[in-house]
Amino acid sequence: MFCKCYQHPTDVEKCIKVPTDNKKAKKRLRADLRYYRKLYKDKVNLDHIADYYGQCETSQGAGYVFQCVKDHDGNVSRTLEHYLNSQDVDLEQLYSLLHDLATYLVENRIMIGDIHYNNILIRRDSEGGMTPVIVDGIGDRVAITILNAIPKFTISKIIRRWNRFSLKQLDSNALLDENNCPSKKAD
Ligand SMILES: Nc1ncnc2c1ncn2[C@@H]1O[C@H](COP(=O)(O)OP(=O)(O)O)[C@@H](O)[C@H]1O
Ligand SMILES: [Mg+2]
Repeated sequence: MFCKCYQHPTDVEKCIKVPTDNKKAKKRLRADLRYYRKLYKDKVNLDHIADYYGQCETSQGAGYVFQCVKDHDGNVSRTLEHYLNSQDVDLEQLYSLLHDLATYLVENRIMIGDIHYNNILIRRDSEGGMTPVIVDGIGDRVAITILNAIPKFTISKIIRRWNRFSLKQLDSNALLDENNCPSKKAD
């Protein structure tokens, strides 16, 4: 566990993350925040990423304020892991939405360093619709990121990482086809 996620005391639409004592916790959060700054600066479409609002002081030290991802009924959205293990949803529909999420990451060239089923929440609307939202692990957790300036390199990396995640935690239906992926923005 790298951070604790608390409900904001005065704003139900927000939550506050506080890094734990784990040695890597602060570094990981800082890397995420650096990447958020880049995404905001480049005006990237953040439809599937929880918003970040800034730093605050808490009784446990520095905290980081994020949009709290919620369902239509006001409950905090559950993780992808929860839905993969429940009989609650149509899994084929879920895999298809996750495939769309992967395509969105490629189209917008959004790197995810830690793709994991607990870092993706499924927001449910009142008609039963589901929207995957990433809440943790964005960016590239490698020391040398200079090659990420090359679009084709970035896209291959996003696809490789997604497919590794997909094979481990999902299903082959959510795999991306490297030879048939949107690369409009790479040209
Ligand atoms: N923005 C958010 N909205 C709602 N719940 C969240 C949000 N961010 C995190 N959570 C919940 O807290 C859990 C842990 O948060 P996360 O940022 O993934 O911490 P860790 O670094 O420990 O993996 C997530 O799996 C999710 O259930
Ligand atoms: Mg996490």
